[in-house]
Amino acid sequence: MDALPQSLREHVLRVEVEAQKLARRYDIEPERARLAALGHDLVRHKPEPELLELARAYDLRPDPVETAAPVLMHGPVAAKMLARDYGYADAEALIGIDCHTTGRAGMTMLEKVLFIADKIEPGKLDRSPAWREVADLAATSDIDVALLRFLDLRIDEAVAERLPIHQRMLEARNELLLGADAARGTWFNSGRGYLT
Ligand SMILES: [Fe+2]
Ligand SMILES: [Fe+2]
Repeated sequence: MDALPQSLREHVLRVEVEAQKLARRYDIEPERARLAALGHDLVRHKPEPELLELARAYDLRPDPVETAAPVLMHGPVAAKMLARDYGYADAEALIGIDCHTTGRAGMTMLEKVLFIADKIEPGKLDRSPAWREVADLAATSDIDVALLRFLDLRIDEAVAERLPIHQRMLEARNELLLGADAARGTWFNSGRGYLT
């Protein structure tokens, strides 16, 4: 924590607060969520060439989207570093740290808590006011509803900015969407079906 730049350290401390709140709401041990929050952005401040070097050093293989946007590697690199160099052994939290930027299909509750806490801390809501809806949903509805709403908003932004979308983000959204529609007994919530 001491090695992080001040603004990043402040973000991490705000995520620590949100993660513990969500942990209590969603029956996760607050201490596990707290530690995951403290570790999640361990290398977020590293310059992109260094992130790619670290990825190689930890035997990660950035895909084409990650190679184009090496910042996407800060979660996977942090997870490897925490496991190998810090002796952090909470496997579920490590996966959560790995995928905290994109999400993934099959996220556990602890992973979802970390993911959402990172997006709804007050600093991020000041920067992205549209995400307040995600915070409200997480506090009043269901974490999957909040997660799906966040992914919809984020993917909309990415399309508007013509950014590539990470495969794991699409897989996370597809899983939530299909699960939600299966539960309602509908298919894609539309009479049109899927465009082919
Ligand atoms: Fe991050
Ligand atoms: Fe973060």
